[in-house]
Amino acid sequence: MKKFAVFGNPISQSLSPAIHHMFADLTGETIQYEKIEAPIEGFEDTVTNFFADERAVGCNVTVPFKERAFKLSEANCNEEAATAKAVNTLHKVNGCLNGYTTDGMGLVADLLSTTGSLSGKRILLIGAGGATRGVAGPLLRENPESLFIANRTFAKAQAIVSDIANPKFEAITADELVSVEAHIIINCTSASLTGDLPVVSESMFGKCELAYDMVYSSQPTRFMQYAAEKGAAATRDGFGMLVEQAAAAFTIWTGKTPETAGVIQKLRP
Ligand code: ATR
Repeated sequence: MKKFAVFGNPISQSLSPAIHHMFADLTGETIQYEKIEAPIEGFEDTVTNFFADERAVGCNVTVPFKERAFKLSEANCNEEAATAKAVNTLHKVNGCLNGYTTDGMGLVADLLSTTGSLSGKRILLIGAGGATRGVAGPLLRENPESLFIANRTFAKAQAIVSDIANPKFEAITADELVSVEAHIIINCTSASLTGDLPVVSESMFGKCELAYDMVYSSQPTRFMQYAAEKGAAATRDGFGMLVEQAAAAFTIWTGKTPETAGVIQKLRP
């Protein structure tokens, strides 16, 4: 039996064990996947103890430990993790911990299953925190016409653009939100968690085929409601991204690719 876990503090809310046990059933793997609340002062020791068990293959890491998980795997991490300086997936290979950020793979997979190809699309990211840093690179690899980023604090948007340095990637001010005529607008901020709207303009949804909120809930988020009112053709929350980022981790650990559509449908709140 292969052992997995998710580390966070708090962690009781996590759906990861349910998601990964469904993936295991679908792919014929026998796994144990548990939630572990690591003490704030003792995250590194808790992870080390977990991986001391030779059955331990991998783990997920969530708030507030993603930056510390990056430190544990900095020498062996994927490009998005290096850009975000944060890791949500660790994989033990020959006694060494490899680190990944799978959020970008998860977002891209969910967008592709919703809208089809992203090639030639103008995509707008709102927000410039860790979530944006993890997804910008994978979105650029899908060959959009352009990728824009806007944020309440403009300097943070400029910093991400400068770190990623791609000619298609541009920081824009609130005044430019309308002129970029985005096809896909993604709210990468945490504003929906408090019922707030991020930086928006009511006229920016005219060409919008999909307004996507990385936050999910049983009801449409404030951003999704606003986007629909202002003309977005479709809206979607981040529940699909949650399941897809888990699927990307599962594939890293086991080499198997689970079917996600049924899992999304079954577990959606
Ligand atoms: P991280 O993902 O790195 O933990 P965060 O502090 O959660 O970062 O913030 C993520 C993003 O959400 C930031 O872009 C933040 O805007 P600022 O850079 O201006 O702080 C944005 N954000 C959070 N709450 C917001 C709100 N109520 N309105 C607008 N933007 C908000």
